[in-house]
Amino acid sequence: MSNIKLSPRLQAVASFVDKRNITDVGCDHGKLTAYLFENKLIDYALVSDISEMCLNKAVTLLHGMNVNFDHVVCDGIYKYAIAEMVVICGMGGQEIVKILKNNKTDIKDFILGPQHDVVLLKKYLIKHKYYITDDIFVCDNGKYYNIIKCHKDLFRHPYSKLKLYFGQNTDKSNYKEYIESEYDKVSNLITLVPKSRGKALRKYLKIIKSALERGDTL
Ligand SMILES: C[S@@+](CC[C@H](N)C(=O)[O-])C[C@H]1O[C@@H](n2cnc3c(N)ncnc32)[C@H](O)[C@@H]1O
Repeated sequence: MSNIKLSPRLQAVASFVDKRNITDVGCDHGKLTAYLFENKLIDYALVSDISEMCLNKAVTLLHGMNVNFDHVVCDGIYKYAIAEMVVICGMGGQEIVKILKNNKTDIKDFILGPQHDVVLLKKYLIKHKYYITDDIFVCDNGKYYNIIKCHKDLFRHPYSKLKLYFGQNTDKSNYKEYIESEYDKVSNLITLVPKSRGKALRKYLKIIKSALERGDTL
């Protein structure tokens, strides 16, 4: 019986962890790492955060568990991190791009959970030869969150426009539900803005409609 309860968003992140040594960048409360230890899904973790105050929450939680971890106050991925997988969740896509650009390690596996600027992040990943193996939207408290699992590769992998916006249709994804919720949201927004200012929304609505027409076939 697990004591650490994760939100559906962090539960989805945890379900993608398939390495025994991880570094949790921007760990804050540390619940993800604590859950992974408690469920024997990892052997070692380096938890880091740019904020000492945030990091201390994770350190307090993990100290009480008698597990094998290190901690460091650090902007982005700690350059001496020896982990096999990097988890960066709960910050904006632009911040995640900045962290990936400044990455000095040769860790190849990543789980990313951007809170916004999802398309911007995925464009960066594709351009810089990250192979996106999983890309889902999880509904948590009425809001959809994108979770991406990717691997730094030697060459670029093509990614369709629909996947860029809506992710991949897999067992773990709420793929259709997410597209339908975007359709409802954007159709509604379009009625609220003046026609002259709705160009981007209309363009996005067209993409949503073509995703709905494609159905489950992505
Ligand atoms: C909203 S919390 C997310 C916590 C947890 N990862 C989650 O997904 O629930 C974002 C955390 O990222 C940290 N953070 C923001 N930018 C960072 C950076 N460049 N390097 C390390 N940590 C960062 C913040 O201090 C904060 O603790």
